Parts: sequence; C-alpha cells; structure tokens
Amino acid sequence: MNSSATILAKDARPLAPQVSGEGLFGVYVHWPFCAAKCPYCDFNSHVHRGPFDEAGFVDAYRAEIAHFGSLKPGETVRSIFFGGGTPSLMDPSSVEAILDAIAGQWTVHPDAEITLEANPTSVEANRFRGYRAAGVNRVSLGVQSLRAEPLAALGRVHTVEEAKLAVGIAQSIFDRSSFDLIYARPHQTLSEWEDELAEAINMAVGHISLYQLTIEQGTRYFDLYQKGKLIMPDGDLSADMFHLTQDMTAGAGMPAYEISNHARPGEESQHNLTYWRYGEYAGIGPGAHGRITIDGVRHATATEKMPFKWAELVSQNGHGATVDDILTWEEQGDEYLVMGLRLREGISPDRYRKLSGRDLDPKQAEELISIGFVERLSNGNIRVTDQGWPVLDAVVADLAM
Ligand SMILES: C[S@@+](CC[C@H](N)C(=O)[O-])C[C@H]1O[C@@H](n2cnc3c(N)ncnc32)[C@H](O)[C@@H]1O
Ligand code: SF4
Repeated sequence: MNSSATILAKDARPLAPQVSGEGLFGVYVHWPFCAAKCPYCDFNSHVHRGPFDEAGFVDAYRAEIAHFGSLKPGETVRSIFFGGGTPSLMDPSSVEAILDAIAGQWTVHPDAEITLEANPTSVEANRFRGYRAAGVNRVSLGVQSLRAEPLAALGRVHTVEEAKLAVGIAQSIFDRSSFDLIYARPHQTLSEWEDELAEAINMAVGHISLYQLTIEQGTRYFDLYQKGKLIMPDGDLSADMFHLTQDMTAGAGMPAYEISNHARPGEESQHNLTYWRYGEYAGIGPGAHGRITIDGVRHATATEKMPFKWAELVSQNGHGATVDDILTWEEQGDEYLVMGLRLREGISPDRYRKLSGRDLDPKQAEELISIGFVERLSNGNIRVTDQGWPVLDAVVADLAM
C-alpha cells in the first residue's frame, strides 16, 4: 500500500481490535468508462475518446488484484461486483481475465455472487451470454425510467423498448438479475410514479433498486437546479413517493431490505449486504474504495480516480492506491451506524460496542424510540422505522453522538 499517503489515526486512543465483519469478504472492481456522461451522475465515470488499450488496462487490474491479495492473503471471496461507470462496455474476455486473476489470488467460494452492472442497450445485451460464460451470475441493469420523456431528460442513450428487451434477455440468461429506476424526478407526479412502479414490479423477478434522484454537486443537474431550471418534487411529495414505493414493493413480496433496495427473501444482493453489514472488501480499479483489516487494524483504502493516471501509478508501483487511512474506534463505530442503519435488519448494539469501544448512548436511543424514528427488535438489534427512513441522516447523526 502507498505508505507515503498513509494518514494515521486522528485521535490518540488505541486502535480498535479486529472485528471480523462476520466473515464477509468481497471484491469490488470499478470500470470507470461510459458511453456518455449522464447529467445527474457524480460517480467516477469518464467518456474516453480515441483508441483505447483495453488489454493494457486489464493488465493493470491484474497487478492491483495481486497487490491487494498480498495484503490480505488466504481470504475466501463471497461476492464480486463489477461496478461503474459502465462495466458492460467491457469485452467478456476482459471480465474473464479479471475473474481469473481474483481466483488466482483468493479462494472464490463456489456460491459466490458475481454481479456486473450493465446499461440496457441492445449492444450491451448482446454481450450478456459472454459475461455468463466468463463467470458472472447476476446482472444489475440501469433502466432508470420506463417512460420515454424522462429517460431522455436523464440523458440516457437507450430507449424504453431497448431497456425492456435487455431486462428480458438478462432474465433469460441469468438466474438472478435486478434493475435500477430513479424516481422523484423533475415534474414527476405521484400517480405517474405509481403507474411506472407498478409496471416495474411486474417486470422484476427478484430484486429491484429504486433511488430517489439526488442533486449532486459538480453535475449538470446541480447547475440547472442552482439556476432554478430544474423543478424538483418538494419534501412532502418526495416523502409520499418514498412511502408509496415501500408499500407497493412490500405488497408485491419484494420489501425493502435496504432503504433503496427491494428483494424477495433470499434475492438480496450479497455484495451490497457486505458493505451495509460492515464486512471487508478490496476495492480494485480507478477510484475504488476498500475496507480491509490487516494485522487487526481496519484500513480504508482508495485508489486514484483518473483512469489513465491510475494505470500509470499501477505500472510504477504495482497498485494505484493513494489513500490508506487507519480507522479509529470512533470512525469504525460511525461507519457501522451509517451503513447498518440503512438496513431493515438494523444494527447490533454488541457489534457497535466491539467496533467503537463504547456503547450507544442509551438516552439518544430511547429518545429516538419514543418519537418513533427507531425501534428495538426482539434480537436486540436497533433499526430505523418507516417513519424514520426519510430522515435517516439525522437519525444516524443523533445516534452517533
Ligand atoms: C453509477 S450507476 C452505474 C451503472 C450504470 N452505468 C448505469 O448508469 O446504469 C449506478 C446507479 O446509480 C444510480 N444513480 C446514479 N446517480 C444518481 C443520482 N444522482 N440520484 C439517484 N440515483 C443515481 C442509478 O440508478 C444507476 O443505475
Ligand atoms: S449513471 Fe451510469 S452511465 Fe450514466 S454517467 Fe453515471 S455511471 Fe455512466
């Protein structure tokens, strides 16, 4: 790891002991390229022009996998996630090479979930069989909207018909698949969302991700919003849309297991659960984040974001990591709350104690319980209620105090 970039623990307390992350270990692979930049997106995604040496890039991924493998030997990988950017722009042979490199470095569990994020164009759907042959067993498609006008406004390069076709192709090739929609969009009404969601639920097989549009700084949408040119639903309408989403998905047997993710029991994304349950994961590729415990100390890692600079760093150092922060007790506790309170299963106060070295403030917890934002489950876990979910950030901040 890049020791020159190491930032040491910020407080003077001793570092937290290793808490296993319940034996969860995943690998995140970030593919940072997209065909076009969507105006709402602040993910690490880039449109490259001109010739591109994909095989050379894949070599860099191999090198970085070897680097993280040497830091974290002997692990069993329970999930792999190709995220982006647009990993479905990759040739299936590149996906296979990266999966081979992961299998060469760690033991990949025979039942490991291997997901690839795909954009639903016809060109990309033609590659699905190749991805399955390479070892991918789950795809997550960025459909975003089932209505033509908003889809175009979101800057998507696919049509509604193409997206529906791609969902059908994915469902016929993979046992497990999911797709994403964005709601609470400019000008969207509650009844329009109700119709669109009903159609989406009919299309979904076991998993669906439903995100409220967030206006992210640095995006084109942010500029438009600042200039008053993007009329967003107000807080009440957004909350109504959120509750409608919870009710309709639960009614269809795909309740939320996380604030924006809905699944039939057993169809939850194992990789994303690793994040939310505060397990461990290696982050490979430009701008990828990781959480790994080395010699009993939890590290937060991140790599260089700019793809070609990352590749250059990898060729110089064998990895593109530019951040390696050692997390303090307090930081671990806070991260566990931020991640775990997104889950319907909630957080375990015992695990919080192990990670943070202290108890949750009982007064804060009781107060949040008394106003109905938080509840205690029979297994002792604490979770945010339906009423508390729309104000999740505030609930987390109160509990973390
Ligand atoms: C970063 S994309 C990567 C997958 C793929 N490139 C795509 O666009 O479908 C992952 C998902 O994040 C969601 N997303 C990205 N930016 C968002 C925003 N500003 N608000 C809500 N959801 C967003 C979209 O639903 C998208 O499918
Ligand atoms: S939303 Fe997906 S396709 Fe659009 S820019 Fe972001 S990563 Fe790329």
